[in-house]
Amino acid sequence: MKKLSMLLAMLVAIGSLGFAKGGQQGSGSGSGSTSQGALVGIAMPETHVQRWQKDGANLKAAVEKLGYRAEVAYGDADQNRQNQQIQNFLTNGAKLLIVSNLNDGVASAIADAAQDKVPVIAYDRLIMNSGDYDYYITFNNLKVGQFQGQGLETGLKLKEASPDAPKYITLFAGSPTDNNAKFFFDGAMSVLNPYIKSGVLKVIGPYPETSADNANFQRIATENWQAPVAKTRMENLLNNDAANVVLDGVLAPNDTLARAIIEACLADAKYADGKLPVVTGQDAEADSVLSIKNGQQYMTVFKDTAKLAEAAVLLADQIIKGQTPSIPGATLASGDIASIGDTGKKRVKAYLLEPVILTKDNWQLPLNAGHFTPEEAARLK
Ligand code: GAL
Repeated sequence: MKKLSMLLAMLVAIGSLGFAKGGQQGSGSGSGSTSQGALVGIAMPETHVQRWQKDGANLKAAVEKLGYRAEVAYGDADQNRQNQQIQNFLTNGAKLLIVSNLNDGVASAIADAAQDKVPVIAYDRLIMNSGDYDYYITFNNLKVGQFQGQGLETGLKLKEASPDAPKYITLFAGSPTDNNAKFFFDGAMSVLNPYIKSGVLKVIGPYPETSADNANFQRIATENWQAPVAKTRMENLLNNDAANVVLDGVLAPNDTLARAIIEACLADAKYADGKLPVVTGQDAEADSVLSIKNGQQYMTVFKDTAKLAEAAVLLADQIIKGQTPSIPGATLASGDIASIGDTGKKRVKAYLLEPVILTKDNWQLPLNAGHFTPEEAARLK
């Protein structure tokens, strides 16, 4: 009996030693969990897209609310930099990582985390070509794209249109290195392709039917979701392929790029003074919601990123505590969208939240949901 209690005492000591390695020994307070005060590393992709500034802040707050410590770092279009940031988290003794990557060059850093037995949650963007992690949490990205397709369908009244008076659109996609960009595009094209086939809709510029047409997809993709890249491409289109038509719509994959495309249009006399094409978007960024309110951008997709952050941190907490994850409000991808969790090396568990389509009719939704900073909210009132 004495031997057993000594053994138990030793095991407890070893357990807390392992924990102290990172200097994060638990306080033992609250739920009594040894994970209190442990470090969670949060690696975010880019600050030039407004949504990610919110995600970083939301995640940090949610992590701290559960009694962990949080460190946030932004890779800012540089995967090497993000890998270094991930290494720093590991050196600092992180207990878990939440990672939104830039490209699959992140896989080596994820392998290092796995070697250190530090679990990783891919946040919003799947980490491709890695078999070294198990969890992914995101929105239903195919549905995001379908909403964008439906935005054009409604905005251009495609159901009532005829091939005798076709509508003209041009296509943009997100970063070719971001797996989400393919889902957004394929979702949108699943709505638009039938209208293109029937001649109701005509595409100006490259027309990949799906993202699987890699050569054409690359031509419409926007490296690192950079607004200046989309703006320049739109200016070139307006001066060349679209010089002799009036564009009725533009498939834009997110708000940052939608606004850049609108800027290019506004500089062209054909589209100035309320004659903008129907432009789609995503993220319900304050500037775009304002643009929708003012009748410029046509729609966006509201992804409640505060909810995503909360769900991701709940998942993190359950993983750290060795519990079987159960995330209210999220469904586990299966059936025809199971591939949302397919990294090319393994199928990870993908938890999906629901996006919401946003137009002039319901633009207040994110405002009421507390999605905006007080400064942004004031601009929208
Ligand atoms: C995607 C993300 C979008 C969008 C984009 C640009 O991965 O799902 O919400 O913001 O990145 O950063």
